[in-house]
Amino acid sequence: MRLTDEQERILDGKDGKILQRAMTILVKYGTAMGAEEFIPVTSAHTLFKSLKFVAEIFSPSRTELTDKEIAEFGKLLATTEVRARTTINPLFTDLDKWREMGVDVSTYKWVKEGVKVAERCGMLPTCSCTPYLMYNIPHKGEHCSWSESSTFPYCNGILGARVNRDGCEVSLASSLLGITPKFGMHLDKNRRGTHLIEVQCQIDNLSDWGALGYFAGEITGLGVPVFKGLRRPSVEEAKQLCAGINTSGGVAMLHISGVTPEAPTVEDAFGNSIPKEAYIFDESARQSVYERLNFESDGKVDMVFIGCPLCTLAEVRNIARLVEGRQVAKGTKFWIATDYATKFMAKWLGYARIIEGSGGILLAGACLISCGSLTCRAERMATNSAKQAYYCAAELGSRVLFSDTTRCVDVAIRGGA
Ligand code: F3S
Repeated sequence: MRLTDEQERILDGKDGKILQRAMTILVKYGTAMGAEEFIPVTSAHTLFKSLKFVAEIFSPSRTELTDKEIAEFGKLLATTEVRARTTINPLFTDLDKWREMGVDVSTYKWVKEGVKVAERCGMLPTCSCTPYLMYNIPHKGEHCSWSESSTFPYCNGILGARVNRDGCEVSLASSLLGITPKFGMHLDKNRRGTHLIEVQCQIDNLSDWGALGYFAGEITGLGVPVFKGLRRPSVEEAKQLCAGINTSGGVAMLHISGVTPEAPTVEDAFGNSIPKEAYIFDESARQSVYERLNFESDGKVDMVFIGCPLCTLAEVRNIARLVEGRQVAKGTKFWIATDYATKFMAKWLGYARIIEGSGGILLAGACLISCGSLTCRAERMATNSAKQAYYCAAELGSRVLFSDTTRCVDVAIRGGA
Protein backbone atom coordinates (compact mmCIF):
# COMPACT_ATOMS: atom_id res chain seq x y z
CA MET A 1 0.00 0.00 0.00
CA ARG A 2 1.09 3.57 -0.64
CA LEU A 3 1.43 5.40 2.68
CA THR A 4 1.75 9.11 3.30
CA ASP A 5 4.66 10.39 5.41
CA GLU A 6 2.34 10.76 8.37
CA GLN A 7 1.05 7.17 7.98
CA GLU A 8 4.67 5.88 7.74
CA ARG A 9 5.50 7.78 10.92
CA ILE A 10 2.58 6.24 12.77
CA LEU A 11 3.54 2.77 11.50
CA ASP A 12 7.07 3.31 12.82
CA GLY A 13 5.62 3.91 16.27
CA LYS A 14 6.47 7.62 16.48
CA ASP A 15 2.91 8.41 17.67
CA GLY A 16 2.74 5.68 20.29
CA LYS A 17 1.97 2.00 20.58
CA ILE A 18 -1.82 2.15 20.17
CA LEU A 19 -1.73 4.04 16.90
CA GLN A 20 1.16 1.89 15.68
CA ARG A 21 -0.90 -1.24 16.32
CA ALA A 22 -3.95 0.35 14.65
CA MET A 23 -1.90 1.22 11.56
CA THR A 24 -0.37 -2.26 11.44
CA ILE A 25 -3.89 -3.78 11.47
CA LEU A 26 -5.09 -1.51 8.67
CA VAL A 27 -1.99 -1.99 6.49
CA LYS A 28 -2.24 -5.78 6.79
CA TYR A 29 -5.98 -5.72 6.08
CA GLY A 30 -5.63 -3.32 3.15
CA THR A 31 -2.78 -5.33 1.64
CA ALA A 32 -4.74 -8.58 1.95
CA MET A 33 -7.77 -6.99 0.28
CA GLY A 34 -5.79 -5.43 -2.57
CA ALA A 35 -6.21 -1.79 -1.49
CA GLU A 36 -3.57 0.63 -2.78
CA GLU A 37 -4.24 3.48 -0.38
CA PHE A 38 -6.33 4.73 2.53
CA ILE A 39 -9.36 7.01 2.43
CA PRO A 40 -10.62 9.21 5.29
CA VAL A 41 -13.63 7.93 7.25
CA THR A 42 -16.05 10.17 9.09
CA SER A 43 -17.97 7.39 10.83
CA ALA A 44 -17.00 4.24 12.72
CA HIS A 45 -19.03 1.66 14.61
CA THR A 46 -17.10 -0.86 16.62
CA LEU A 47 -17.51 -3.73 19.06
CA PHE A 48 -16.60 -2.76 22.59
CA LYS A 49 -18.34 -5.60 24.43
CA SER A 50 -15.97 -5.35 27.39
CA LEU A 51 -12.46 -4.04 28.03
CA LYS A 52 -11.17 -7.63 28.12
CA PHE A 53 -12.75 -8.33 24.72
CA VAL A 54 -11.21 -5.21 23.13
CA ALA A 55 -7.78 -5.78 24.70
CA GLU A 56 -7.69 -9.32 23.37
CA ILE A 57 -8.84 -8.59 19.82
CA PHE A 58 -6.48 -5.61 19.55
CA SER A 59 -3.42 -7.36 20.99
CA PRO A 60 -0.99 -8.80 18.41
CA SER A 61 -0.98 -12.19 20.14
CA ARG A 62 -4.83 -12.36 20.32
CA THR A 63 -4.49 -14.64 23.31
CA GLU A 64 -6.08 -14.43 26.74
CA LEU A 65 -4.55 -11.56 28.71
CA THR A 66 -4.09 -11.24 32.47
CA ASP A 67 -6.19 -8.73 34.43
CA LYS A 68 -3.09 -6.55 34.81
CA GLU A 69 -2.42 -6.54 31.07
CA ILE A 70 -6.06 -5.67 30.32
CA ALA A 71 -6.03 -2.78 32.80
CA GLU A 72 -2.75 -1.43 31.34
CA PHE A 73 -4.17 -1.63 27.81
CA GLY A 74 -7.27 0.27 28.99
CA LYS A 75 -5.13 3.07 30.49
CA LEU A 76 -3.15 3.44 27.28
CA LEU A 77 -6.17 3.30 24.96
CA ALA A 78 -8.00 5.91 27.08
CA THR A 79 -5.29 8.45 26.17
CA THR A 80 -6.06 8.08 22.44
CA GLU A 81 -8.85 10.18 20.96
CA VAL A 82 -10.91 8.78 18.06
CA ARG A 83 -10.68 10.65 14.75
CA ALA A 84 -14.13 9.68 13.42
CA ARG A 85 -17.62 9.82 14.91
CA THR A 86 -17.75 6.45 16.67
CA THR A 87 -20.50 4.41 18.30
CA ILE A 88 -20.34 0.98 19.93
CA ASN A 89 -22.39 -2.21 19.57
CA PRO A 90 -24.32 -3.96 22.40
CA LEU A 91 -22.26 -5.10 25.36
CA PHE A 92 -21.82 -8.49 26.94
CA THR A 93 -24.52 -7.46 29.40
CA ASP A 94 -27.10 -4.88 30.35
CA LEU A 95 -25.29 -2.84 33.00
CA ASP A 96 -28.37 -2.65 35.26
CA LYS A 97 -29.80 -6.12 34.75
CA TRP A 98 -26.61 -8.17 34.63
CA ARG A 99 -27.74 -10.35 37.54
CA GLU A 100 -31.03 -11.21 35.79
CA MET A 101 -28.95 -12.10 32.72
CA GLY A 102 -26.87 -14.48 34.82
CA VAL A 103 -23.61 -12.65 34.07
CA ASP A 104 -20.69 -13.11 36.48
CA VAL A 105 -19.11 -10.23 38.44
CA SER A 106 -15.82 -10.33 36.57
CA THR A 107 -17.52 -9.97 33.15
CA TYR A 108 -19.72 -7.18 34.50
CA LYS A 109 -16.63 -5.37 35.81
CA TRP A 110 -14.83 -5.51 32.45
CA VAL A 111 -17.97 -4.39 30.62
CA LYS A 112 -18.24 -1.34 32.87
CA GLU A 113 -14.53 -0.54 32.49
CA GLY A 114 -14.87 -0.88 28.71
CA VAL A 115 -17.64 1.71 28.55
CA LYS A 116 -15.52 4.13 30.63
CA VAL A 117 -12.55 3.73 28.29
CA ALA A 118 -14.76 4.08 25.17
CA GLU A 119 -16.10 7.31 26.57
CA ARG A 120 -12.61 8.65 27.32
CA CYS A 121 -11.57 7.93 23.74
CA GLY A 122 -14.47 10.10 22.58
CA MET A 123 -16.71 7.26 21.42
CA LEU A 124 -20.47 7.54 21.95
CA PRO A 125 -21.42 4.60 24.20
CA THR A 126 -24.73 3.94 22.45
CA CYS A 127 -24.38 0.16 23.00
CA SER A 128 -26.65 -0.41 20.02
CA CYS A 129 -26.52 -2.50 16.84
CA THR A 130 -28.61 0.14 15.02
CA PRO A 131 -26.13 3.05 14.74
CA TYR A 132 -27.86 4.09 11.52
CA LEU A 133 -30.94 5.14 13.54
CA MET A 134 -29.33 7.35 16.15
CA TYR A 135 -26.16 9.37 16.72
CA ASN A 136 -24.22 7.86 13.80
CA ILE A 137 -26.25 8.38 10.63
CA PRO A 138 -23.97 8.86 7.62
CA HIS A 139 -25.13 10.66 4.51
CA LYS A 140 -25.00 9.33 0.96
CA GLY A 141 -21.39 8.88 -0.17
CA GLU A 142 -19.88 9.17 3.31
CA HIS A 143 -17.07 6.63 3.91
CA CYS A 144 -17.43 4.55 7.09
CA SER A 145 -15.79 1.64 8.89
CA TRP A 146 -18.35 -0.41 10.76
CA SER A 147 -18.56 -3.81 12.41
CA GLU A 148 -21.83 -5.73 13.05
CA SER A 149 -23.16 -7.67 10.10
CA SER A 150 -26.73 -6.33 10.14
CA THR A 151 -25.53 -2.75 9.67
CA PHE A 152 -23.62 -3.19 6.37
CA PRO A 153 -26.54 -3.52 3.92
CA TYR A 154 -28.42 -0.80 5.79
CA CYS A 155 -25.47 1.61 5.56
CA ASN A 156 -24.77 0.92 1.88
CA GLY A 157 -28.18 0.02 0.52
CA ILE A 158 -30.62 2.14 2.52
CA LEU A 159 -28.51 5.19 3.37
CA GLY A 160 -26.20 5.15 0.33
CA ALA A 161 -23.12 5.59 2.53
CA ARG A 162 -20.05 3.36 1.93
CA VAL A 163 -18.82 0.62 4.20
CA ASN A 164 -17.10 -2.78 3.96
CA ARG A 165 -17.79 -5.78 6.16
CA ASP A 166 -15.10 -4.77 8.62
CA GLY A 167 -14.11 -6.85 11.62
CA CYS A 168 -14.04 -5.33 15.11
CA GLU A 169 -10.28 -4.74 15.24
CA VAL A 170 -10.47 -3.01 11.84
CA SER A 171 -13.33 -0.67 12.80
CA LEU A 172 -11.53 0.19 16.04
CA ALA A 173 -8.28 0.90 14.18
CA SER A 174 -10.15 2.98 11.55
CA SER A 175 -11.90 4.91 14.29
CA LEU A 176 -8.60 5.75 16.02
CA LEU A 177 -6.85 6.76 12.79
CA GLY A 178 -9.77 8.28 10.85
CA ILE A 179 -8.86 6.28 7.73
CA THR A 180 -9.64 2.87 6.21
CA PRO A 181 -8.29 0.90 3.23
CA LYS A 182 -9.90 1.91 -0.06
CA PHE A 183 -11.41 -1.19 -1.64
CA GLY A 184 -14.73 -3.05 -1.97
CA MET A 185 -17.83 -0.98 -1.28
CA HIS A 186 -15.84 2.26 -1.17
CA LEU A 187 -15.52 1.96 -4.98
CA ASP A 188 -18.41 2.50 -7.42
CA LYS A 189 -17.60 -0.57 -9.53
CA ASN A 190 -18.24 -3.01 -6.65
CA ARG A 191 -21.62 -1.60 -5.65
CA ARG A 192 -23.57 -2.85 -8.65
CA GLY A 193 -26.12 -5.63 -8.39
CA THR A 194 -25.22 -9.25 -9.07
CA HIS A 195 -28.42 -11.20 -8.27
CA LEU A 196 -32.03 -10.29 -9.05
CA ILE A 197 -34.69 -11.26 -6.51
CA GLU A 198 -38.27 -10.75 -7.59
CA VAL A 199 -40.70 -10.64 -4.70
CA GLN A 200 -44.00 -12.24 -5.65
CA CYS A 201 -45.69 -12.73 -2.31
CA GLN A 202 -47.14 -10.70 0.50
CA ILE A 203 -44.59 -9.53 3.10
CA ASP A 204 -46.86 -8.98 6.07
CA ASN A 205 -44.84 -8.48 9.20
CA LEU A 206 -41.35 -8.05 10.63
CA SER A 207 -40.55 -11.77 10.69
CA ASP A 208 -41.51 -11.96 6.98
CA TRP A 209 -38.94 -9.25 6.23
CA GLY A 210 -36.36 -11.26 8.18
CA ALA A 211 -37.34 -14.39 6.23
CA LEU A 212 -36.91 -12.55 2.92
CA GLY A 213 -33.47 -11.39 4.08
CA TYR A 214 -32.52 -14.93 5.09
CA PHE A 215 -33.59 -16.22 1.64
CA ALA A 216 -31.63 -13.45 -0.14
CA GLY A 217 -28.47 -14.05 1.90
CA GLU A 218 -28.57 -17.78 1.19
CA ILE A 219 -28.66 -17.38 -2.56
CA THR A 220 -26.49 -14.28 -2.87
CA GLY A 221 -23.58 -15.25 -0.61
CA LEU A 222 -21.08 -12.42 -1.01
CA GLY A 223 -22.94 -10.82 -3.93
CA VAL A 224 -25.18 -7.77 -4.20
CA PRO A 225 -28.91 -8.61 -4.32
CA VAL A 226 -31.33 -6.35 -6.18
CA PHE A 227 -34.95 -6.57 -5.02
CA LYS A 228 -37.74 -6.05 -7.51
CA GLY A 229 -41.39 -5.74 -6.58
CA LEU A 230 -40.64 -4.81 -3.00
CA ARG A 231 -42.42 -1.86 -1.45
CA ARG A 232 -40.52 0.79 0.54
CA PRO A 233 -39.77 -0.78 3.92
CA SER A 234 -40.27 1.01 7.22
CA VAL A 235 -37.17 1.47 9.39
CA GLU A 236 -38.12 -1.62 11.40
CA GLU A 237 -38.73 -3.70 8.26
CA ALA A 238 -35.44 -2.66 6.65
CA LYS A 239 -33.67 -3.52 9.92
CA GLN A 240 -35.07 -7.08 9.82
CA LEU A 241 -34.27 -7.48 6.11
CA CYS A 242 -30.64 -6.46 6.69
CA ALA A 243 -30.23 -8.65 9.78
CA GLY A 244 -31.74 -11.68 8.01
CA ILE A 245 -29.58 -11.26 4.92
CA ASN A 246 -26.32 -11.50 6.85
CA THR A 247 -27.49 -14.39 8.97
CA SER A 248 -27.29 -16.66 5.94
CA GLY A 249 -24.98 -14.60 3.71
CA GLY A 250 -22.10 -12.14 3.73
CA VAL A 251 -23.79 -9.25 1.99
CA ALA A 252 -22.33 -5.74 2.20
CA MET A 253 -24.68 -4.03 -0.24
CA LEU A 254 -28.25 -4.45 -1.46
CA HIS A 255 -30.50 -2.53 -3.79
CA ILE A 256 -34.21 -1.89 -3.49
CA SER A 257 -35.35 -0.01 -6.55
CA GLY A 258 -36.75 3.35 -5.57
CA VAL A 259 -35.19 3.17 -2.09
CA THR A 260 -31.42 2.76 -2.54
CA PRO A 261 -30.20 6.31 -3.25
CA GLU A 262 -27.85 5.41 -6.10
CA ALA A 263 -30.29 3.10 -7.92
CA PRO A 264 -33.68 4.59 -8.70
CA THR A 265 -34.47 1.64 -11.00
CA VAL A 266 -33.54 -2.05 -11.29
CA GLU A 267 -31.54 -1.25 -14.45
CA ASP A 268 -29.54 1.41 -12.59
CA ALA A 269 -28.83 -1.08 -9.80
CA PHE A 270 -27.18 -3.47 -12.29
CA GLY A 271 -25.34 -0.65 -14.04
CA ASN A 272 -27.04 -1.76 -17.27
CA SER A 273 -25.39 -5.20 -17.14
CA ILE A 274 -27.22 -8.52 -16.91
CA PRO A 275 -27.82 -10.16 -13.50
CA LYS A 276 -25.66 -13.25 -12.85
CA GLU A 277 -28.67 -15.10 -11.49
CA ALA A 278 -32.37 -14.41 -10.94
CA TYR A 279 -34.66 -15.84 -8.24
CA ILE A 280 -38.28 -15.54 -7.19
CA PHE A 281 -39.35 -15.13 -3.59
CA ASP A 282 -42.89 -16.48 -3.57
CA GLU A 283 -45.20 -18.03 -1.00
CA SER A 284 -43.43 -21.41 -1.11
CA ALA A 285 -39.95 -19.79 -0.71
CA ARG A 286 -41.29 -17.80 2.26
CA GLN A 287 -42.78 -20.93 3.81
CA SER A 288 -39.55 -22.84 3.30
CA VAL A 289 -37.54 -20.27 5.31
CA TYR A 290 -40.03 -20.53 8.20
CA GLU A 291 -39.77 -24.32 8.10
CA ARG A 292 -35.96 -24.19 8.22
CA LEU A 293 -35.82 -21.66 11.05
CA ASN A 294 -38.49 -23.29 13.18
CA PHE A 295 -37.66 -26.03 15.61
CA GLU A 296 -41.06 -25.70 17.13
CA SER A 297 -42.52 -27.86 19.85
CA ASP A 298 -46.10 -27.85 21.09
CA GLY A 299 -44.96 -27.65 24.66
CA LYS A 300 -43.80 -24.99 27.02
CA VAL A 301 -41.63 -22.04 25.95
CA ASP A 302 -39.03 -20.90 28.51
CA MET A 303 -38.08 -17.62 26.89
CA VAL A 304 -39.59 -15.15 24.45
CA PHE A 305 -37.05 -12.70 23.06
CA ILE A 306 -37.87 -9.65 20.94
CA GLY A 307 -35.27 -7.09 19.92
CA CYS A 308 -32.83 -8.35 17.32
CA PRO A 309 -31.68 -5.91 16.04
CA LEU A 310 -32.50 -3.85 19.12
CA CYS A 311 -36.09 -2.56 19.22
CA THR A 312 -36.98 0.95 18.12
CA LEU A 313 -39.32 3.03 20.28
CA ALA A 314 -42.21 2.15 17.93
CA GLU A 315 -41.56 -1.57 18.49
CA VAL A 316 -41.41 -1.11 22.27
CA ARG A 317 -44.69 0.80 22.13
CA ASN A 318 -46.30 -1.96 20.06
CA ILE A 319 -45.21 -4.59 22.58
CA ALA A 320 -46.52 -2.46 25.46
CA ARG A 321 -49.90 -2.27 23.71
CA LEU A 322 -49.93 -6.02 23.12
CA VAL A 323 -49.19 -6.90 26.77
CA GLU A 324 -51.21 -4.18 28.47
CA GLY A 325 -53.59 -5.73 31.02
CA ARG A 326 -52.10 -9.22 30.52
CA GLN A 327 -49.60 -11.23 32.53
CA VAL A 328 -46.61 -13.25 31.30
CA ALA A 329 -46.94 -16.94 32.22
CA LYS A 330 -45.10 -18.16 35.30
CA GLY A 331 -41.85 -19.87 34.37
CA THR A 332 -41.54 -18.05 31.04
CA LYS A 333 -39.06 -15.21 30.61
CA PHE A 334 -40.15 -12.37 28.34
CA TRP A 335 -37.16 -10.23 27.35
CA ILE A 336 -37.36 -7.20 25.09
CA ALA A 337 -34.05 -5.61 24.10
CA THR A 338 -33.48 -2.00 23.13
CA ASP A 339 -30.77 0.63 23.55
CA TYR A 340 -30.31 2.94 26.56
CA ALA A 341 -31.64 6.08 24.86
CA THR A 342 -34.80 4.29 23.71
CA LYS A 343 -35.27 2.73 27.13
CA PHE A 344 -35.14 6.19 28.63
CA MET A 345 -37.94 7.29 26.28
CA ALA A 346 -39.89 4.09 26.95
CA LYS A 347 -39.74 4.84 30.69
CA TRP A 348 -40.77 8.43 30.14
CA LEU A 349 -43.74 7.42 28.01
CA GLY A 350 -44.89 4.65 30.35
CA TYR A 351 -44.18 1.72 27.99
CA ALA A 352 -41.48 0.29 30.27
CA ARG A 353 -43.91 0.31 33.22
CA ILE A 354 -46.52 -1.59 31.22
CA ILE A 355 -44.02 -4.19 29.96
CA GLU A 356 -42.39 -4.73 33.36
CA GLY A 357 -45.81 -4.71 35.05
CA SER A 358 -46.83 -7.62 32.84
CA GLY A 359 -43.76 -9.58 33.94
CA GLY A 360 -41.45 -8.75 31.01
CA ILE A 361 -37.93 -7.35 31.25
CA LEU A 362 -36.84 -4.40 29.14
CA LEU A 363 -33.11 -4.85 28.56
CA ALA A 364 -30.81 -2.10 27.33
CA GLY A 365 -27.64 -2.45 25.27
CA ALA A 366 -27.43 -6.25 25.21
CA CYS A 367 -29.08 -9.28 23.63
CA LEU A 368 -28.89 -13.05 24.04
CA ILE A 369 -26.18 -13.35 21.40
CA SER A 370 -24.11 -10.28 22.38
CA CYS A 371 -24.04 -11.78 25.86
CA GLY A 372 -22.42 -14.81 24.23
CA SER A 373 -23.10 -16.84 27.32
CA LEU A 374 -24.91 -20.05 28.02
CA THR A 375 -26.24 -18.40 31.18
CA CYS A 376 -28.95 -16.81 29.04
CA ARG A 377 -29.70 -20.00 27.21
CA ALA A 378 -33.31 -21.17 26.99
CA GLU A 379 -34.20 -24.75 26.16
CA ARG A 380 -37.22 -23.63 24.12
CA MET A 381 -37.59 -20.07 22.97
CA ALA A 382 -39.66 -17.88 20.66
CA THR A 383 -38.52 -14.84 18.69
CA ASN A 384 -39.67 -12.66 15.79
CA SER A 385 -36.11 -12.29 14.47
CA ALA A 386 -34.64 -14.60 11.82
CA LYS A 387 -31.14 -13.71 13.04
CA GLN A 388 -31.82 -14.42 16.70
CA ALA A 389 -33.69 -17.64 15.76
CA TYR A 390 -30.75 -18.92 13.75
CA TYR A 391 -28.03 -18.07 16.30
CA CYS A 392 -29.97 -19.20 19.38
CA ALA A 393 -30.43 -22.58 17.69
CA ALA A 394 -26.88 -22.80 16.31
CA GLU A 395 -24.90 -21.28 19.20
CA LEU A 396 -27.03 -21.78 22.30
CA GLY A 397 -28.69 -25.03 21.19
CA SER A 398 -32.24 -23.72 21.77
CA ARG A 399 -35.33 -25.13 20.08
CA VAL A 400 -36.76 -22.02 18.45
CA LEU A 401 -40.21 -20.90 17.42
CA PHE A 402 -39.76 -18.19 14.78
CA SER A 403 -42.92 -16.16 14.28
CA ASP A 404 -44.36 -12.66 14.15
CA THR A 405 -44.38 -10.26 17.11
CA THR A 406 -48.08 -10.73 17.98
CA ARG A 407 -47.73 -14.50 18.17
CA CYS A 408 -44.51 -14.23 20.20
CA VAL A 409 -46.29 -12.02 22.74
CA ASP A 410 -49.21 -14.52 22.90
CA VAL A 411 -46.69 -17.31 23.52
CA ALA A 412 -45.20 -15.31 26.42
CA ILE A 413 -48.66 -14.87 27.94
CA ARG A 414 -49.66 -18.51 27.53
CA GLY A 415 -46.19 -19.86 28.34
CA GLY A 416 -46.27 -22.05 25.28
CA ALA A 417 -46.88 -22.35 21.58
FE1 F3S B 1 -28.10 -6.79 17.61
FE2 F3S B 1 -27.72 -8.86 19.16
FE3 F3S B 1 -29.18 -9.07 17.02
S1 F3S B 1 -26.21 -7.33 18.68
S2 F3S B 1 -28.34 -7.64 15.58
S3 F3S B 1 -29.66 -7.82 18.81
S4 F3S B 1 -27.67 -10.58 17.70
